[in-house]
Amino acid sequence: MLERHLYLIGMPGSGKSSLGRKVANNLRLPFLDLDRRIQEILNGTVTEIFERYGEDAFRTAETNMLIQLMGTTPSIISTGGGIAMNPLNRELMKASGAIILVDRPLEQILSDIKLDRRPLLAEKGLPEVERLYNERIDTYRATADLTIVNGGDYFSGVDVLQKLITDHFAV
Ligand code: S3P
Repeated sequence: MLERHLYLIGMPGSGKSSLGRKVANNLRLPFLDLDRRIQEILNGTVTEIFERYGEDAFRTAETNMLIQLMGTTPSIISTGGGIAMNPLNRELMKASGAIILVDRPLEQILSDIKLDRRPLLAEKGLPEVERLYNERIDTYRATADLTIVNGGDYFSGVDVLQKLITDHFAV
């Protein structure tokens, strides 16, 4: 059991969803992929949502999801890479949980990120990933209560995140 939500923040391609899902499964904790939930509710992929309603609507949906999560069963929650850039979102996450940064070195993100499902990155490609990383990394670090460096493969990332969660949060 968790006492509050654990929000995973960080860059696209940092491993928030894949590591979060696996660690939650290993520890028998509830898991929620916030982007996936928004896609279910708005009935489309992130790319389609951006095309149909625009990025602002997607950002509003992210904030609404965080509000709806207040008071629900504490879970491991993977978030979209942009969520921590909004001060209100940061407040909402801090008020209802702890924030864990999944910090993957830029070189590794660049070497294995999948761009096709990410509308902000699909067109502009890897230079945009690098630009976003440089723009966001200080905010991510200042927002996080705890950080893991996901600098290796999937299995070592799972180990590091699982240890951090069992060390710091009663499960
Ligand atoms: C975004 C990241 C995406 C998704 C949307 C916007 C961003 O999530 O929320 O495309 O602004 O960085 P991932 O971090 O899971 O790619």
